Amino acid sequence: MPLLNRQLCLESRPEGVPTENNIRMRSSRLRRPSQGQVLLQNLYLSMDPAIRGWMSDKPSYMPPIALGEPVRGSTLGRVVESCHPDFQIGDIAVGLAANAWEDFSLTDGEQLDRIQPDPRFPLSHYLSVFSAVGLTPYFGVLDIGKPKPGATMLISAAAGAVGSLAGQIARIKGCRTVGLVGSDEKCSWIVEELGYDRAINYKRCEDLTSAIAEACPDGVDIYFDNVGGEILDAALLNMNNFGRVVFCGAIAQYNTEDRVAGPYNYWQVLARSLTVRGFLSPEFKDRFGEGIEQMSDWIADGRLVFAEDIVDGLENTVEAFSRLFTGANKGKLLVKVRDASEPAPTMDEIRTAAQAPEHF
Ligand SMILES: NC(=O)c1ccc[n+]([C@@H]2O[C@H](COP(=O)([O-])OP(=O)(O)OC[C@H]3O[C@@H](n4cnc5c(N)ncnc54)[C@H](OP(=O)(O)O)[C@@H]3O)[C@@H](O)[C@H]2O)c1
Repeated sequence: MPLLNRQLCLESRPEGVPTENNIRMRSSRLRRPSQGQVLLQNLYLSMDPAIRGWMSDKPSYMPPIALGEPVRGSTLGRVVESCHPDFQIGDIAVGLAANAWEDFSLTDGEQLDRIQPDPRFPLSHYLSVFSAVGLTPYFGVLDIGKPKPGATMLISAAAGAVGSLAGQIARIKGCRTVGLVGSDEKCSWIVEELGYDRAINYKRCEDLTSAIAEACPDGVDIYFDNVGGEILDAALLNMNNFGRVVFCGAIAQYNTEDRVAGPYNYWQVLARSLTVRGFLSPEFKDRFGEGIEQMSDWIADGRLVFAEDIVDGLENTVEAFSRLFTGANKGKLLVKVRDASEPAPTMDEIRTAAQAPEHF
């Protein structure tokens, strides 16, 4: 049996959280690179909430994933064949939002970055803390939040990939940090392991506005918003004058096909002279090296803790992805497609696979 390329393809546009009715596994013939292309064998897939947006056909910053096509995403893999001058067989590379949920991705190299793994860290870190996911809170907190010692920073989805780092970076810069999370277990984790000053389980609050006020007696200077919706409304009512809202994401509305309400308290932006600034991490791409260097030092000297939640097997990807929306993940959610210690396919195996029938 030749090598196959298993691909998770978008069969229908989801209503709500995507299921295996929307995304199906297909096996197709392996394609070899032509001039200027690279064939990557994927080792890890990054589970990012934004992918849910690309499954819809609503306007976004990227085109929708076409029906029938594999689901687009960021992956880390190894080069197994290259017709591109910048990539050699054996290179480890990360493709940002340009590869797909599949065993092998054929790419033109435009969005592919070769990495030089630092042996102090697991390879998976290059698709999490040292990729756009980790650099989002780095630049979001430092460049947009502009933290000052003694300021209070509130963070939503505080136990997730972005949020778990955002709070720690603000703490390193001398802020008091308060995290909003969806379970008591996450509350304990972010306080005891990540060093947050306070945690609020927003699912168990009768009145979230009062709970934030109680946890932030001096008001909120910076709100790092990963969620939008009602949590944003409650945060706005606790902001100090001239505070900053770092608008990073709005996961509360990604699965909604209806019109999204609010924010009801938008008026507070004016009343409190707030600055609200949205951003996408590629804005800072030229400075990613600086961020990786700083985060590596913080991790190596124990000031920054980073957790990865790794699900094994491409076949478990759809279920894994749903965890982002149920809150079942803690830290960065990744799917491991195969272990880097497994031998890569040989050129003979790739040639034979590329001559097999189209579909299986
Ligand atoms: N701007 C950028 O460039 C950029 C880059 C990467 C990510 N983002 C955004 O950052 C946010 C976090 O992404 P991530 O990758 O770090 O994911 P994540 O936080 O690791 O996972 C998502 C978490 O969001 C929480 N959540 C899910 N649905 C929710 C809802 N309806 N209301 C409140 N909380 C909800 C859940 O935690 P609980 O159990 O605590 O509810 C869940 O664990 C997302 O909005 C994402 O789109 C932006």
